[in-house]
Amino acid sequence: MKVVALGLQWGDEGKGKVVDFLSDSADIVVRFAGGNNAGHRISRGGKVFSFHLVPSGLLHSHTSVVLGSCMVINPESLFVELDSIKNMGIEIAGRVAISNRAHVVFPEYLQQDKRQESERNNPIGTTGKGIGVAYMHKATRTGVRFADIYNDAYVSTFNDESQEFILEFRDRLRPLLVDMPCHMQNAIDANKNILFEGAQGIMLDIDLGTYPYVTSSNTELSGVCSGAHVSPREIDKIIGVCKAYSTRVGNGPFPTEYESEELLEKVRTIGHEFGVTTGRPRRCGYLDLVALRYAVMCSGVTSLALTHLDVFDGFDEIQVCTSYSINGTETHHVPASLQEISSAKPNLVTLPGWEESISDITDRKRLPKEAQGYIEYIESFLDVSIDLISVGPKDHQTIVHTSVW
Ligand code: GDP
Ligand code: IMO
Ligand code: MG
Repeated sequence: MKVVALGLQWGDEGKGKVVDFLSDSADIVVRFAGGNNAGHRISRGGKVFSFHLVPSGLLHSHTSVVLGSCMVINPESLFVELDSIKNMGIEIAGRVAISNRAHVVFPEYLQQDKRQESERNNPIGTTGKGIGVAYMHKATRTGVRFADIYNDAYVSTFNDESQEFILEFRDRLRPLLVDMPCHMQNAIDANKNILFEGAQGIMLDIDLGTYPYVTSSNTELSGVCSGAHVSPREIDKIIGVCKAYSTRVGNGPFPTEYESEELLEKVRTIGHEFGVTTGRPRRCGYLDLVALRYAVMCSGVTSLALTHLDVFDGFDEIQVCTSYSINGTETHHVPASLQEISSAKPNLVTLPGWEESISDITDRKRLPKEAQGYIEYIESFLDVSIDLISVGPKDHQTIVHTSVW
């Protein structure tokens, strides 16, 4: 079976936790786009792991992982991450493959990313990892793919710093590189369970998101096909991961952002809403059902994994956004125009909250009736069922309503 897990909001939905959970039944876990702008925190077996480049399925000893072709990879960061995972007791030998069609992120890209940000009138608020610069080189055909770093004549055309950088890592990279189309075809022919792991979220997608306040890759479903070279016909299920509220790091439109400082502080504190990659405090807001419906529609989401429901424990009421008002007109769609989405005001519906802690509940039917009501409201608004409900960061704090595999 082939299952895709995608973030439906502005990233940090808890994809790492959900992918780790789903990896129990996966043979191969594949990242297809992005780079170490991603940051996933995974609590498993009493330890907390941080993943940035490496697919979040690596903690299960039976899996192998692949870093796909549309990824942009900083080899230095990759080896720091792999070493740190290994030092935490995870055996990685023979389990990690990298597409030789992926692009290299050089140290100078990070400097350029930061310089571009400082020169913009309205900075994007990038992670400063050189991601946009790497994709710019890819699009203008001046990028460097891993397949080509063993061509000495080609490498000798790089500047001194980039040559030194590649020479430092290329021997260690060589055994990890694979021809991704063949690698994936072999896995499909062998009838493996493959899990495709999205990074970022659909509202940060370069084409669907709040451009230009987006990342530089396709985070939505099409990214799986281009980044893993898998036909859309192969995909069986598309799981959309979404938080019970909304968050965003970096700048750009966020129609449902809390105006109340008190509510912001409360949700940020309870939800520990600070970035895994940059440590920046995340902006927080009401669940945006307009944006979620758009994400579900554009990526053909077949079911949802709802995370962070526990953050609302003890809330008297919870508000969700069901439409926007833009220049006095009610709209049910996400407009493309930056000016329009920037001026969108949320129209909110109030739902009852619940008193008790839900973090130890393992059965959906045992959740307080108000929490069940919240889940049912989302399902009915989006017309998609919620198969997984996450009620805390730890691996066991997950309620399975319908088995994904
Ligand atoms: P990702 O980028 O989508 O993988 O998400 P991040 O790891 O950046 O951010 C999600 C954070 O929330 C992590 O610190 C997780 O440990 C934590 N988390 C995941 N699921 C839940 C949940 O259901 N409840 C709570 N309270 N925290 C969660
Ligand atoms: P995960 O996978 C949240 C945001 C940045 C910035 C914009 C562009 O952990 O969900 P970039 O460095 O990509 O050029 O920055 O995108 N961003 C993320 N926000 N989660 C992420 O990844 C993100 N990756 C990029 O904050 O607003
Ligand atoms: Mg994250």
